[in-house]
This record gives sequence, C-alpha cells and structure tokens, in this order.
Amino acid sequence: MRITLVAATRPNFMKIAPLIRAIDKHNTGTGSSGAKIEYMLVHSGQHYDYQMSQVFFEDLELVKPDIHLGVGSGTHAWQTGSAMMEFEKVLLKARPDLVVVVGDVNSALAGALAAVKLHIPVAHVEAGVRTGDMGMAEEVNRLLTDHISHYLFTTSKYDDADLKKEGIPAGRIHRVGNIMADSLVMVRESAGRSDVLNRLGVKDGGYALLTLHRPANVDEREKLKMILSRIEEVSRSIPVVFPAHPRTLKNLLKFGLDKPASTIILTTPLGYRDMLRLEMGARFVITDSGGVQVEAAVLGVPCLTVMDYPVWRITHETGGNKLVGSDCAGLEKAAARILKSPPQSQSKPKSSIPLWDGHTADRIVSVLLKAAS
Ligand code: UD1
Ligand code: UDP
Repeated sequence: MRITLVAATRPNFMKIAPLIRAIDKHNTGTGSSGAKIEYMLVHSGQHYDYQMSQVFFEDLELVKPDIHLGVGSGTHAWQTGSAMMEFEKVLLKARPDLVVVVGDVNSALAGALAAVKLHIPVAHVEAGVRTGDMGMAEEVNRLLTDHISHYLFTTSKYDDADLKKEGIPAGRIHRVGNIMADSLVMVRESAGRSDVLNRLGVKDGGYALLTLHRPANVDEREKLKMILSRIEEVSRSIPVVFPAHPRTLKNLLKFGLDKPASTIILTTPLGYRDMLRLEMGARFVITDSGGVQVEAAVLGVPCLTVMDYPVWRITHETGGNKLVGSDCAGLEKAAARILKSPPQSQSKPKSSIPLWDGHTADRIVSVLLKAAS
C-alpha cells in the first residue's frame, strides 16, 4: 500500500507524527501481518516560520517532508487553490493508493479535493467534528472533506452521530479516538524536562495559560481589546502566560495592544515540548485552540474555551472544558471558581474520554491494513 500524508500547519504535525510512528512500527514489527505501507510526507507550507513548523519536526522527531509545496500565506481561495494545484502535480506523479489528511485547515481540504478528483481515495483523521458555525473556515473545510472521504476516522460518539445524520454510510466511519492524545503521550516525558517555567518566571500551579488565534477573536481591534481586558482582570488573581500565534502577534502590534499589563506574560509561539510543559503546570487554560482543548482534557487541566460553540462536545461532558463565550463574558466567574477549588495534581494524564489514550494511530493503521487485505 502506498500512502501520501498531508501536513500543513502547526496542529497538523501532532496528528501526523503518531501516524508515521505507527506505520514504521507496522513495517518493522516482528510478526506484523499484512503488506508493508510505503509513505510519503507532503508539507504544503501553509505554516513556515521555524516556531510554526520546523520546531515540531524536532520536538516530535518527525521525518523531514519528502516534498515541500511552499504555499505560504494568502486569502482562503488563493491558499486553498495554490495548495490544490501543487498537490495535484505531486499526486499525478506519485499515484498513491490513498491520501491521508488531518484536521480542518485549508491545506487538508485542498489535499482531499485534489486527490478525490484523481480518483484517489481519501482518509480524513478527525472527521465529523461539527460546531454548526459555518462562519468558521474550518467548519466549511471539515464538512467538505468528510463528504469526499472514503475513511472517516472519528474521535467520539458525537462525530459518528453527526456524520450519520448527514447521510455518510456507517461503513465509512471508524471511531478511533483523538490522535492529538498520541503525541501528548509520546512527548510528555521529554516535555517534563523543559525549562520553560524557569525561563518565563512562573511556578507549577501558579499561572494560567492563554492562547488565542481565531480570526473572529483576534482580527478586529475592539474585540481583541475587550478579550484582553477581561484576561487582564483574571491576571490580577493569577499571572497569565500568553504564547501568541503569529496572526495574533501581528494584530496586537497593528492595534497597539502589544504592551499588556505586566501580569500577562506575552511570548512568541513556543515549541511543542515547552507548550506541553506549560499546559501540564497550568492552574487552568484559557484558549480558542482546538488542539489545546484536547490536551487540557487529556491532562485533566481545567479549560475555559473562548468560543460560543463547543468543538469537542465530549470534553464538555467529561473533560473539564467550559465555554466562556467568544467575548469572554463568562471568564472571570469561571476562573474565580477554579481558583477557589483545590488545585489538581498533574502527575500523569487523566483522560477518562474513551479512546483518547495514545493508541489512536495504531487503530487507524489496523483499519487501513484490514481494508487493503
Ligand atoms: C490556520 C488554520 C486554523 C488553525 C491554525 C493553527 C485555516 C483556514 N486556518 O490558521 O484552522 O487553527 O492555522 O495554527 O486553514 N503566519 C506567520 N507565520 C507562519 C504562519 C502564519 O507569520 O508560519 C501569519 C501570516 O501573517 C498569515 C497569518 O499568520 O497570514 C495566518 O496564517 P494562516 O495559515 O492563513 O491561518 P492561521 O490563522 O494560522
Ligand atoms: N502549540 C504549541 N506552541 C504554541 C501554541 C500551541 O506547540 O505556542 C501546540 C498546542 O500544544 C497544540 C497545537 O499547537 O498541540 C494547537 O495548535 P493551534 O492552536 O495553532 O491550532 P488548532 O489546534 O486550534 O487548530
């Protein structure tokens, strides 16, 4: 079996690394049955700064991409269209048996569209995630990707139910768990050795961790200013570490908001080991990131999500995730409630979510091998 894997942006690398590791394990495993899997990794180049791309190859010990498309930043249509045109060239030459795309970024949709039009089957990892908010580019991307994919690898019962409601045949849906948990489990030990807390001058349990990058939250001055003023209120009770995404950093500068209160510790984006270490030691997390919500749930760290709609409904049921609204109206109260309760120990991952256990990539490889046999 010959597979082409597509990666593009920061959160994609955490989803691709465990898959490659599981494929390598299958290929080299003694007594492993079934054909070997030949793979090729294609990086679209949607994210390109060292801190948004290369650092993750190092932290996750991920093989270098076989092909780099160099797409870069642009409008949605430009970015998606450019990635499609470049992927098509690669696929015409490589003619793989399967294309694997992960998540919901523009390059995932581009990879899936380019493949399906060449009659190459597509596997979508993190299929079936729905917020109902078609104003989010990601919602459009995941809906379209799911409907042209042959294998839909889902994270929870909610994803399966939504896909079935949309008329996707049950035989295409495979509930395998959340692959972000695989990377977390893989890197957790080395993350424990990161000196990021010292570098930022914070102590375990003595800070909150913030990330923000959704265009709806950070692209308009007044909105971003309001969110930051509510964060500042919280930071009077506990310092807030804020590694900002490049989109956010650029907007903070543009809007003259790049000098927050001294209780907000603003940094450039961090590598994965440093970020995991910060999540492990945080009293709570404030975020609009899909991946950070997953990691908080797996680590058992309370998560206050700066959105109006849940992305991972299962984390609101069992994973300590709470929506505080995209205007952060519920933030202060929710943060105060956490600060009043006894801090939890961060000694080991505590996910009680079924299949978010670090073995999702193995399950995906098993499904693909079974289908190929
Ligand atoms: C993209 C995804 C989003 C995902 C996020 C993960 C889409 C539509 N959006 O959003 O779903 O949650 O990645 O981080 O696919 N930039 C840099 N350096 C980089 C990359 C980006 O400076 O290496 C800046 C550029 O100014 C660029 C802006 O960030 O215009 C936005 O980048 P882009 O990839 O278009 O969208 P993200 O906001 O990163
Ligand atoms: N992340 C990181 N450094 C940072 C911020 C995030 O390594 O400074 C990691 C985070 O731990 C998670 C992933 O990036 O694994 C989430 O990516 P992001 O928030 O950019 O995208 P989303 O998951 O929302 O699509």
